Amino acid sequence: MFKKKLILISLFFMQIANCITHPDLSKQEIRWDWKKIDYSDISFPKNFLFGFGTSEYQISGAKNCPHSNWAYAENKKKKNGKDFLEFKSGKACDHWNSYKQDIALLKQFKVNSYRFSIEWSNIEPEKGVFNKAAIKHYHDLLDLLIENNITPFITLHHFTHPQWFEELGGFERESNITYFVRFCKTVFDQYKNKAKYWVTFNEPGVYVFQGYVRGVYPPGKTNTHLAGKVTRNILRAHANVYNVLRAIEPNKQKAQIGIVHNITQFEPFNPKNKIEKTVTYYLNHTFYDAVLDFFKTDKYKFKIPLFANVKYEYKNAKSTLDFFGLNYYSHVLISWKSKKPQYRDGEIATDMPYGIYAEGMYRAINQASKIGVPIYITENGIADAKDDRREMFLKQYLYAVSKAIKDGYDVRGYFYWSLLDNFEWDMGYDLKFGLFEVNYKTQERKLRKSGLYYKDVLERHYQKYLPKSK
Ligand code: GCO
Repeated sequence: MFKKKLILISLFFMQIANCITHPDLSKQEIRWDWKKIDYSDISFPKNFLFGFGTSEYQISGAKNCPHSNWAYAENKKKKNGKDFLEFKSGKACDHWNSYKQDIALLKQFKVNSYRFSIEWSNIEPEKGVFNKAAIKHYHDLLDLLIENNITPFITLHHFTHPQWFEELGGFERESNITYFVRFCKTVFDQYKNKAKYWVTFNEPGVYVFQGYVRGVYPPGKTNTHLAGKVTRNILRAHANVYNVLRAIEPNKQKAQIGIVHNITQFEPFNPKNKIEKTVTYYLNHTFYDAVLDFFKTDKYKFKIPLFANVKYEYKNAKSTLDFFGLNYYSHVLISWKSKKPQYRDGEIATDMPYGIYAEGMYRAINQASKIGVPIYITENGIADAKDDRREMFLKQYLYAVSKAIKDGYDVRGYFYWSLLDNFEWDMGYDLKFGLFEVNYKTQERKLRKSGLYYKDVLERHYQKYLPKSK
């Protein structure tokens, strides 16, 4: 009895100590004096995963994923007769056929991990029909990674799924979850001895925001209440997949299962403006907070007065996460007066409608840490066609990650987005996220100059832990 009390009391004090050392930074727009910062003063733990992230559809395109909902959506018309999606993916980097060449790039870079997605629509092009060649394809890819000492980090759903699943209503219908679970179980049974890290979903917030609030991704709906329901089903599906895979492989040393979520802090351009404050509150809520809260409190509450009200409870939601995958790029400043992207004084723009804000990475790690599970930075990168900001971006964001680790946050990996230039969904090919530039005509890959900085960080990291010769 006494022992129990002592444990409770110490847990209580640990909680308080945690609040003091790691205060909530979600609403604090912190700024560091970058002129005083020494970028070479960064370090990462010995077993830190360093890698790149990609997703199959973005590097293989509709041509190599013809049964996916995106491939179909690329041919869809809007009511006004215009194309629903302005940009067509084609074969993208044709990674499906040139994965060997791309794994050679990873090897050349000496990354120890690689995050990629398994395209459900290639594995199960028709409901209940599993394609042997596609299953073999991923076996070959995994074998090659293992041969090169590259730890696979697999995403099971990265925005795309089979068209037949979309036609059944996708995640709008709870009864469809079983199809996703069956797919996940099938691939887990196939590859569990070759891969330890498994991500159920990539960015539920972005998927739902773009597909159901803005309506710019398939299925192109603008129904906020439905967005809340789809997110609820995705959370249900996540928990379901977690439990099914965990039952197949109870050993956590062998399988780590988590979710990937994007945190983008929406902030009022004018912090005193009440309208901007209200708008940003609801943007944060819809985009990421409701999902974060679910894992923190077991309660999913998606509420926007007059627009949406969806609830869901799950006992010990956190127990369905062995890790949290954090995708972080930047914050977005919301101005009541202008629809154009806004920047603070001195903030440098990227080619996406947001600036370079590495302090936000530190804040996002702080926000994610409140769940209480290890964190992997599963995406971080910059669209920079001129390659004149990427090196500085990398310096500042890697500094922020390293500082977070020094300050006691449990961050275990970093994946640069992305290995190659690729198909940026509704924004097409103009946005260049790749550390390797891709010539889409010749399919030639070329390392960008800024890539040398990332390479150098990795070399220094491995050097540090190399056994010293006597
Ligand atoms: C996302 C995705 C990636 C994007 C990347 C750059 O965040 O939308 O996970 O597919 O390409 O984030 O915007």
